[in-house]
Order: sequence, then C-alpha cells, then structure tokens
Amino acid sequence: MNPDDVPDRLPAYVYDLRGLDEHIASVRAALGATELYYAAKANPDPQILRTVAPHVDGIEVSSGGELTHVRETLPHTPLAFGGPGKTDDELALAARLGVDRVHVESPNELARLAAHGPRSVLLRANLPFRTPGAALAMSGPFGMDEEALDACARRIPGTPLTLRGVHAHLASGLDAPAMLDLADRIVGWALPFLADHGVDDPEINIGGGMAVDYTSPGTRFDWAAYGKGLPAGMRLRVEPGRALTAYHGWYVTDVLDVKTTRGETYAVLRGGTHHLRTPVTKGHDQPFEVLSSKDAPSGRATLVGQLCTPKDVFASDVPVPPLAPGDVVAFAMAGAYAWNISHHDFLMHPKPAFHYLR
Ligand SMILES: Cc1ncc(COP(=O)(O)O)c(C=O)c1O
Repeated sequence: MNPDDVPDRLPAYVYDLRGLDEHIASVRAALGATELYYAAKANPDPQILRTVAPHVDGIEVSSGGELTHVRETLPHTPLAFGGPGKTDDELALAARLGVDRVHVESPNELARLAAHGPRSVLLRANLPFRTPGAALAMSGPFGMDEEALDACARRIPGTPLTLRGVHAHLASGLDAPAMLDLADRIVGWALPFLADHGVDDPEINIGGGMAVDYTSPGTRFDWAAYGKGLPAGMRLRVEPGRALTAYHGWYVTDVLDVKTTRGETYAVLRGGTHHLRTPVTKGHDQPFEVLSSKDAPSGRATLVGQLCTPKDVFASDVPVPPLAPGDVVAFAMAGAYAWNISHHDFLMHPKPAFHYLR
C-alpha cells in the first residue's frame, strides 16, 4: 500500500476500487463464455458492489439481509439466492423482489418456495467428490444427495417452479487444476441428471472457492488457465467471492505500545480482530507492511489488538523492523471476509473509518 494513502483517522479500511475494477475485468475476460456471479458474503460494502457489478452477470446472496441490501444497492443486477435455512419470509421476499434464481437446499424448502408462485430454481447438489487440499469442504448440511435431488426434480413439474439446473459449491481454497478437475466431475454428473429430467439449456453453477494464499500475497489464482480449461458448450456459471475482493482491501492502524514480556515482544495495535477477524478464523498470520519504516526486519514480534483475549492476534512471532508507538501498520488482503465477518461490538471500541481509492 502507498504510504500517501494512509488516512488521518486510524484504524481504517482502505479499499482500492480502481485495482478491484481492473482485477475483475481481467477475471471476466479470462472466463470467456462462463458466467460470473460475485458472492456478496465476501464483502457487501456498497462501493465494492458497485465496482464489481459492471463486470459480472449477477450477484449471489445468502440471506434476506443480503438480498435486501444488494437489491437496494444494485436495483438492476440479476440475483441468485442461496444458503441453508431460508425462512418463509425470506422466500416471500425472493418472490417479491423477483430474484432470478433460487438455489434450493432441500425438499422441504422446495415445497415452501412453490407456495410463493413461479420462480426459476437450481437444485443445490451435495456430491460425494473428494477435494484433497481444500481449505473447507462444503458438504454436511449444504445441498442434497442424489436421492433428494431426484425427488425434487420429479416434484417440480407439479409446481409453479421451473427447474433450470444445478448448483454445486463443494469446496473452497482449491487451485486452478484442482478446480478444473472438480468442475469436470460436477458437469459429468449434472448433464445426464438434467437431461433425464428434461431440462433444456441447462445451467450448471459450479460455485466459488478459488484459492487465495495468505502466505503469498503476490500469488493469484490462475484465472487464465481456469477459463481455458473449463468445459465449453453449456451454460456454466461460477460465483467466487474471496478471490475477487481479498487483494483490494487493507486494514490500516498504528502501534499503541511495544513491550517484551517473558521473552516475547508484543506490538499492541489500535483496533483488533473485532475489526479484522480473518487471521483468527483462518488461523494464519495476516500479511502486513510497516508503512512508517524503511528499515528491514531485524527482530520478531507478535502483533495484537486491544481486546482482552489472547486470541486477539493478527500475526504471531513474525519478523518486524524496530517498532515504536505511532508506527503505521497496513494489513493486506483484507478485502474479503474481513470487516463483515468480525465481532464489531466486543469491548465497544470505536469502529474503523472507511476510505476508497478511485
Ligand atoms: C454457496 C457459496 N457460493 C460461493 C461462495 C464464495 O466462496 P469464496 O469466497 O471462497 O469464493 C460461498 C462461500 O462460502 C458459498 O457458500
């Protein structure tokens, strides 16, 4: 991050909207005919949504809250509504707001959705494919096994609903070769399933989960290889979140205190993981730069926040230049699953400021 872009009030989130715009444009180009949806759960900040929107075919939302927010922010962008445990109120909202696709999670949900009139649906598939190397396998309660999928597909013709295809977000944190292998297996199962149920022009949503390597901030998911290797000749859709927005946000703050206790040096920073929970949830050291220093790392320290919990750690025993109160630290890769997944109200510290680079 450029030191000239450090805001006056810290802590602050700084979002690079211009960089985000260029990144998503390049992802869009790499994907060719494959449709691109953005998973709003990664970062639903309105300015992020408005930057993403011109490049995508739609937005994936996973709650009534996200649905209302995204519809208000982007009144004309197609929406897909997924997520487990949809309530009747949320299904009614989807009907009222004219959601383009509902990703149905269970036979019970299908029946409740049908009560709200015509709607296009994708059935969410929980397929028994192994995904070695995945950071998260999205099995368990998500979607349906083959038996329930078949039961839903057979039930749909007796309802006002239209079966358009399947949705399978099976893993996150896979690189391009592993994602391509998974895409082939999903498509290999989905096409005959949808043909058996008489679906014309079937849509196959193969989810998001493209890898983001927090230990290597310069590395990117290989979108070019992925776009080139995806199966062609069908209506294929992806819905990434993290790999689109992670790189274009920073959480910037300053050092309040530096101390050595029982041989370990701690830099206590303004703010904490109630603003940037990503390193705690992912179990990594958040990559960072000390913007106020030109010195090379010469020692080690643990970077912590102001919370009264030993879990309030951004980075543990990492190489640092000499640190002193007032030094400015910018945590990179804070544009996805960062502010919006954090427990903001714990200890009632002030909220961060938000800055947008255009
Ligand atoms: C259904 C669904 N689609 C898309 C995503 C986005 O995944 P990612 O941000 O890893 O690309 C998620 C994340 O949990 C998801 O649950």
